Formats: sequence, structure tokens, C-alpha cells
Amino acid sequence: MYGNDFGPPEPAGVTDAGPADLGGEDDATFLALIDADARVEPRDQMPGAYRASLIRQIAQHAHSEIIGMQPEGNWIGRAPSLKRKAILLAKVQDEAGHGLYLYAAAETLGVDRSELLDKLHSGRQKYSSIFNYPTLTWADMGAIGWLVDGAAIVNQVPITRCSYGPYARAMVRICKEESFHQRQGFEILHTLSNGTSAQHAMAQDAVDRWWWPSLMMFGPPDDASPNSERSMRWGIKRFSNDELRQRFVDMTVPQSQALGLTLPDPELSLDESAGHWRTGPIDFRELFEVIGGNGPCNAARLAHRRAAHERGQWVRDAAAAFAAKHATDAQGAA
Ligand SMILES: [Fe+2]
Ligand SMILES: [Fe+2]
Repeated sequence: MYGNDFGPPEPAGVTDAGPADLGGEDDATFLALIDADARVEPRDQMPGAYRASLIRQIAQHAHSEIIGMQPEGNWIGRAPSLKRKAILLAKVQDEAGHGLYLYAAAETLGVDRSELLDKLHSGRQKYSSIFNYPTLTWADMGAIGWLVDGAAIVNQVPITRCSYGPYARAMVRICKEESFHQRQGFEILHTLSNGTSAQHAMAQDAVDRWWWPSLMMFGPPDDASPNSERSMRWGIKRFSNDELRQRFVDMTVPQSQALGLTLPDPELSLDESAGHWRTGPIDFRELFEVIGGNGPCNAARLAHRRAAHERGQWVRDAAAAFAAKHATDAQGAA
């Protein structure tokens, strides 16, 4: 997923259990499979709560990929050169592809894509809060690639070993593409940082605005993340929010030094005995405000998504008519 910052879980008792689902979440056969680090496949029996939890997580991940096209789509028409435009276009198209793989993975759990989109459009399912921030300058394309895609990689690499087979396999290809995204962002910032003083200042301003939100992509601190323990027991989640956040900080600080840019945290320091970079306190009130719908762009992102969905109705109608025609032709030929 892009992050672990999606907010509270669905109310207890909501399981979306299919008719063949196992009743208890602590079914011994199922847990033995998980303990053996084997993969659960679509036709396998699974506890209803495991299925529901995966549907929710994969759907929110898919929603994040497609909503995440908006902040960068904002700059395709204003990229500073043809080369930059081609790269950004390819990157945004990759995100559309990630959304499609993930909706397809969710569908293997027996849920319909239109139902998931309906939940997104009506606000019943969330997407990563990071995409509710605006992209004010071209340097934001660099900061998003470097920090947001960088955080996504740290989150997503462990999901390649997730217990649900289709999700794990989708993530292998996604991670390869995210790695390209992260490098293209780094390269944009490197060019700006070593350019004119105005370009350097623009890069620094973008990093100042994206650093703290990117740390919040890993979700609330572990002691305020009630859902995590069960996801870890089920092999959906492999590391805690704080462990992943620390990994991201340790990876990113040396990169900021290579870029010649400063991370906006006066308390950032190296804990030499532990070998970790320690940040100052993170203001999670901002995260909960954005999750609650009060980020700078929440309303605009959802309105744009709904309008795009409505404008695409003719494509869905045409695809359905084409499939119906094929079915009739096949019947006639039989
Ligand atoms: Fe992606
Ligand atoms: Fe990406």
C-alpha cells in the first residue's frame, strides 16, 4: 500500500464472509498454513475476517494508486522539457496500472470492482492521505518521487511476502516500477539542487513541505494502531508502522545529504549506539485531520475522481456491449 494511514477499521462484525468461509479467525488449519509461511490462494478456505481485511486493504491500496495520479497529473502539461514530460507521463501511467493489478487482486476475493469504486466515491473506503496535499511547483514532482514513492517502496517490499498469493505477486512488479519512480524523483531534485539558487530554493521548499507528510504515510505509532497485531498474525503485515518508518528515515537521511538538501527537522540526529537516525516528534494530529477529510485537497480529489468515473461511463457501456456481442456470436457458432 502507499501507506498505513487509512484510519479506523470497519466496525466489528463486518466480515463480508463468503458462503465457503471458515467461521473462526483462529481456525487451526488456516493458522497452520500461515505458520508454515505458505500462500493462501483464491479457492482456499479462509476465515471471513481474513477475507474482509484483505479486501479492505487491497482496495484502499488500489484507490491510493489511482487517486495518486492526480497530484502529478497536474504537472504533465507544465513539465519543463519533452524528456521530463515523457518520464512523468510514464510514471503516472504506471500508477494507473498498479491500480488495475490491485483491483484485479481484490476481485479474486469475490468482490466486484464497481462495488469498491462505489465505496471510494461515497467515502466509505479511504486512500492514502498523502494525496490530499497540493503540488505547488515542479520540484514537488521530485519530492513525491523521492519521498512518497520511496515510502511506498519501504511499505510494499514486505507485501511481496504477504500470505495472500495474488496480492503478493502483484506487488513484485509494482515494487520494480516504484523503484524507477523513486530514482526519477531523486534525479529531478538532484538537478534542481545543483542548479541556480532559485532552483535549489524550490527543491528545498518542496522537501520542507513533503517530509513530515511522508513520515505519516506509515500510519499512527504502534501503540495507537490497534489493527496491526491481527494483520501481523495473519502474515498480511510483516513489520510494524514504527519499524517501517524507521527504515525509511535511515534510508532517506543519507540521500538528503547526497542531494545537498536539508530535512526540516532540527532534532534529527544519529543515534550512534543504535545505528539509527532519530526524528523529532511527529505531529499526528495533522494525519488524523487529513484522514478525517480536512486536508487541503480532500474534496477536490474525490470530486475529480467522481467526475472522471462519470465521464468514463461510455467506455464501460461499450466494453459491456462488445462482450455481450461476443457471447452471442459464440453461441451462434456453437
Ligand atoms: Fe504505484
Ligand atoms: Fe509510484
